[in-house]
Amino acid sequence: MVPSHPNDPASKESRVEVKVKPRDATRKFWRVVRADVYRLSGRSTYREVFRQLMVGETFPYVFWMRACSHLSRSTGPSRLLLLPARLVLRRFRYRMGINLPWQTSVGPGIFLGHAGGIVVNAGAVIGSNCNISHNVTIGSNKGRRAGVPQIGDNVYIGPGAVVAGAITVGTGSAIGANSVVLDDVPAGVTVAGAPARVVSTKGAIAWVNLTDHGLD
Ligand SMILES: CC(C)(COP(=O)(O)OP(=O)(O)OC[C@H]1O[C@@H](n2cnc3c(N)ncnc32)[C@H](O)[C@@H]1OP(=O)(O)O)[C@@H](O)C(=O)NCCC(=O)NCCS
Repeated sequence: MVPSHPNDPASKESRVEVKVKPRDATRKFWRVVRADVYRLSGRSTYREVFRQLMVGETFPYVFWMRACSHLSRSTGPSRLLLLPARLVLRRFRYRMGINLPWQTSVGPGIFLGHAGGIVVNAGAVIGSNCNISHNVTIGSNKGRRAGVPQIGDNVYIGPGAVVAGAITVGTGSAIGANSVVLDDVPAGVTVAGAPARVVSTKGAIAWVNLTDHGLD
């Protein structure tokens, strides 16, 4: 499910402060981490989480991004761990060339196929089970569509794509390699080119798999 978006004034009005118990928050953290690991290998065990932390190409970054996000919401003593966790994340950011800030709203099951050149604006919203390839930029734009993108669930973003501005990328859509996406993308279609246009109605089905983790 796509989280609420800062460009949408209605989402602010309807936002209700809900106190989450620390134990529930920790459970949610592990569910999200296990969904992320399931997207990579089809396994969601803690053993697989450990294995991916040791040998995964991009998972260590995703894990520490989730950890920072989780710790930033904590109100107890565990919040003290936020600073060291941010330092670890920063180290992975430089090592892997991934700048996906922990403040970005990212749904469970994010799939980063390869490290390198991934840059995402902290205010962007990314739905569940999205695939982000290397050299992808998801950022702000100025002018007619000033703001940052809101990306739906199960979206595939091909290598080198730039997705910019206050646009909505529909659920199940695919963005071709090296596309420049500056306008809304309907759900379930493929767009490509610069500027991107709809090129087919195949969408992301062939690209986004292992979404049946049930850990949202
Ligand atoms: C967009 C993509 C997913 C294909 O989607 P699709 O829905 O199957 O589209 P098709 O291949 O049927 O192509 C439809 C049209 O769009 C064009 N097109 C496809 N991808 C394009 C791209 N990235 N840029 C410009 N045009 C593109 C095709 O040439 C075709 O044009 P035509 O109808 O004039 O022949 C694929 O082209 C792509 O970009 N894949 C990324 C592959 C990659 O980078 N792999 C490495 C992973 S590490």
